[in-house]
Amino acid sequence: MTIAIGCDHAGIELKKEILSLLQELHLECIDYGTDGPQSVDYPDFGEKVSEAVSAGKIEKGILICGTGIGMSIVANKFPGVRASLCNELFTAKMSRLHNDANILVLGGRIVGKDLAKEIVKTWVSTPFEGERHRRRLDKISHIEGRLQKHGICKS
Ligand code: RB5
Repeated sequence: MTIAIGCDHAGIELKKEILSLLQELHLECIDYGTDGPQSVDYPDFGEKVSEAVSAGKIEKGILICGTGIGMSIVANKFPGVRASLCNELFTAKMSRLHNDANILVLGGRIVGKDLAKEIVKTWVSTPFEGERHRRRLDKISHIEGRLQKHGICKS
């Protein structure tokens, strides 16, 4: 599995931790920035990762900003992206089992590094359960298709 990762300045320290964890787990990772502590705008980095996942170029993504809220808002604008803000383990697990989340969002100012690493481990190793949840995801895809058809949202 290849993972696209991105963050803003509020997520840079946590991103470093997550990058070394992904390396330990032998998961291929593409880092879309930001690379330093200078203040940047989270939509610029959220867009890069979400675009790659939405286009099917990369299977999964991880985004980090201060709370995780801004990155979640950006990511869920992209067709086919199911971004889940998980600052604890239960939602990390459920977001994979029930929602087949393809982008994990973390709040760099909310969650400590040890918990964040556990969240990432859980998220990357939990499969989608399918069955009734597949039907619900199909309904989301249908909504996206309808919005695109009527020009409400661009693909
Ligand atoms: C940056 O200060 C902060 O607003 C951003 O990281 C994020 O928390 C936005 O939702």
